[in-house]
This record gives sequence, C-alpha cells and structure tokens, in this order.
Amino acid sequence: MRAPRDLVSQGVFIVTSAAGSQTAGMTACWVTRLSCRPAWFGVAMHHGSHTREVVLAGGCFCLNIPASDQAGLARHFGRVSGRHTDKLRGLAWRPGPTGAPVLLEVAAYIDCRLVGQVEVGDHTLLIGELVEEGVLRKARPLPFRPRDYGQGRGGRGDRGVNARGRQRPEAIDRGRTGRSGATGPGAGLAQDGRGQGDRRRKIP
Ligand SMILES: Cc1cc2nc3c(=O)[nH]c(=O)nc-3n(C[C@H](O)[C@H](O)[C@H](O)COP(=O)(O)O)c2cc1C
Repeated sequence: MRAPRDLVSQGVFIVTSAAGSQTAGMTACWVTRLSCRPAWFGVAMHHGSHTREVVLAGGCFCLNIPASDQAGLARHFGRVSGRHTDKLRGLAWRPGPTGAPVLLEVAAYIDCRLVGQVEVGDHTLLIGELVEEGVLRKARPLPFRPRDYGQGRGGRGDRGVNARGRQRPEAIDRGRTGRSGATGPGAGLAQDGRGQGDRRRKIP
C-alpha cells in the first residue's frame, strides 16, 4: 500500500539547463504550474542536484515532457548525477531560446527563464517564466508509475530499455533500487550524490 503522500498526482519531466558550455538534466516529478499571467512554472530540486546548480548559474530551465514510451529516458536522467557524467551525450538536442537544451525525441517542451527561487526544506523551488513551448511529436505524456522505477509489483527497473525508452537486447549497467535515505520523488531511486554513491552508467 502506498503512503497517502505518494498518491498526490504527478507527471514526469526531464528538466534540462545550461550555463555557458555546461549542460545538465535530471528527471523531476515535482513540477507544477504556478501562475497563468505571467505563465510561471515551478520545479523542486533537491540540494544535492547538479542540475539545480546549473539552473542557478545559467538562469534557465526547460521542462522536457517525455512520451508515454519513454520511461527509459526518465530512468536515464533520474538515477545518476550529471556531476561526473554527461547525461546528454548521445541524445539529440538543440538549445532553446533560453539556452536550455530541448530534447528532440520527447513529446513537447516548455522553455523557461528563471525568475525566482525559494528554499523549501531540503529542496529549492525554482520558478521559471515560459519563453517558448512546442510540440515535437504527437504522443501521450509519460505518467508517473512507480513500477517504471523498480518500485512496487512488476517493477521493471532498467531491464532491456535504453535511454530513449526503447527495448534493447542487452541490459545496461543498472544500479540497485534500494532506498537511498534521500527525500523527494527520487528517494530510493537515485544512485547519485544523494544516496548510495555515484553509479555511473554508459549512455546507450
Ligand atoms: C521518476 C523520478 C522523479 C524524480 N523527481 C525528482 C524531483 O522532482 N526533484 C528532485 O530533486 N529529484 C527528483 N528525482 C531524482 C533526480 O532525478 C536524481 O537525483 C538525479 O540523479 C539528479 O541528477 P543531477 O545531479 O544530474 O541533477 C527523480 C527521480 C526519478 C527517477
């Protein structure tokens, strides 16, 4: 039985950013709309996140919205920190108007310039104003399903799925899925600075 706090509905996003020549990206579920006019969005990033540092340095972030068949992409960006590895390598992307990477294989994106930040416990709420949004392909957005991340019955972990969410024959260097002691949606999922050490993966 999931805890009531885990029943708060949430989507899945790949939040990317750039500062100078440095790029970053992480999976985030704690994303929400905050205001219509201006069009503001919020994303909560834990203090250990490398992407958070790049967002603060570069002043921008892009909410990339994966398609329903791209759970592998969410695992790719959600399990290892980009502090020592380039998670964008091998993926098709272009800089959006803010400079934040737009992933070209996702369903849609919302490119934002950073307009504020609020410390919220062990996370930072990063507030962005929409600069450009676009649909890249006709597809349903990826819903959050615990089993996609090795939680609950039928959890698939990384089995046979590459970073683009497609089946592939050989399993990648997959990490454990035990609890990390971290908080947030990635708790028990991330194998990075927040948890049990950086377990780097090859980019498929
Ligand atoms: C499905 C999923 C959702 C996640 N949601 C969040 C989130 O909303 N906020 C957060 O700080 N971390 C979240 N995480 C954990 C980060 O994606 C993870 O710590 C990532 O490795 C951080 O990468 P970075 O250090 O390169 O920024 C999530 C992980 C997964 C798998």
